[in-house]
Amino acid sequence: MTEEIVKSALSKVLYPGFTKDIVTFGFVNKIVINGDDVSFTVEITSSAPEVAKQIKDEATVELMRAGADTITCNIKAPVMPRESSSRGKNIAPQVKNFLMVSSGKGGVGKSTTSVNIAIALAAQGKKVGLLDADIYGPNIPRMMGLANIKPEVHGNKVLPLKAYGIEVMSMGSLMEDGQSLIWRGAMIMKAIEQFLRDILWSELDVLVIDMPPGTGDAQLTLAQSVPVTMGLTVTTPQGVSLDDSRRSLDMFRKLNIPIAGIIENMSGFIAPDTGVEYDIFGKGTSQPMADEFKTKIIAEIPIEPSIRIGGDDGKPITFINPSSESAKRYMKAAESIWASIEEVNANGGVDNHAVQPTTPPGVSACSTAAAPKAQPKSSDESCGTGCGCH
Ligand SMILES: Nc1ncnc2c1ncn2[C@@H]1O[C@H](COP(=O)(O)OP(=O)(O)O)[C@@H](O)[C@H]1O
Ligand SMILES: [Mg+2]
Repeated sequence: MTEEIVKSALSKVLYPGFTKDIVTFGFVNKIVINGDDVSFTVEITSSAPEVAKQIKDEATVELMRAGADTITCNIKAPVMPRESSSRGKNIAPQVKNFLMVSSGKGGVGKSTTSVNIAIALAAQGKKVGLLDADIYGPNIPRMMGLANIKPEVHGNKVLPLKAYGIEVMSMGSLMEDGQSLIWRGAMIMKAIEQFLRDILWSELDVLVIDMPPGTGDAQLTLAQSVPVTMGLTVTTPQGVSLDDSRRSLDMFRKLNIPIAGIIENMSGFIAPDTGVEYDIFGKGTSQPMADEFKTKIIAEIPIEPSIRIGGDDGKPITFINPSSESAKRYMKAAESIWASIEEVNANGGVDNHAVQPTTPPGVSACSTAAAPKAQPKSSDESCGTGCGCH
């Protein structure tokens, strides 16, 4: 075998879809010949696996015809684009999907839900991150058994903590114990951006984000910073909670975030001694709201003392007691969420272009001439435009 024979054989291999061959294109290099053994590299411009396969197959046939014995064809191709088809601004491009967990008010079990859904998704083979974006009440470290553990800092980047196979970050892990911060609009935006940009998240299938309660600056900033694949609303069955949850669903709609469904938490009570289920706050009362927003209740999670104990002790029920009724319901909810995420991506993904701020970077919407009457009267007051000036 000589280099001429090899090149002449490979020049019979056309680059798929073109009338020129791989040698003429200049794609063939690193030819190594050892007797009748040939190895070479073909550097192609397509990431499609079919292209690589066709070249490899045809090159092997041509070289065998030319008398080669052992043939090693290395294909160097660009990396496949990410599975997620979402578009728009994305400051954490290594994360394929973002699940925003919201509620109208605090105390309904949003953090508990975020933790258990994250664990259920990980148990189903997904690479999961859990971001505690509730800067007012960062409870995730305790619930994941990470209280008092400080993350490693690399330059100006921070490594996420790890628990139960999940990457975790929280303002609670960055602040001193019991410390409180008074958050102003611009600080909230900065914090959310840093959580996405400056935390060294791995290539994640999904980042579950536990939001502060309500519909404010944090929600808007998140939606503007990354294409949020899906929103999940957590509610309790009482009428007053439902009123607030409606606002949370309406926010998803306004931010163009597809709705994964509603989790009705504290839906009935399972007595630990008898296993009998009691109705306390009502049950299934979220259905009309689900219908109104063309979505579904993906789980009714009962009040179970072991859920609360699991939260306090950092031992989430879905991990510690997967055969419990609640864990099974979280697992089913996670399956439903993942199916919805796949559906959204199959249909072209999400796009956050439409929710980008219209003011140039660094200029607050409050300071533009477009909203002169909306100027806040004092520094503590919001202008009411949702620009985050308060
Ligand atoms: N289904 C449930 N059964 C028992 N306790 C629950 C349940 N859901 C939440 N809790 C408890 O209620 C409290 C509030 O829940 P949490 O997840 O912190 O709410 P949020 O994040 O919405 O403020 C926590 O102590 C939590 O352990
Ligand atoms: Mg919480």
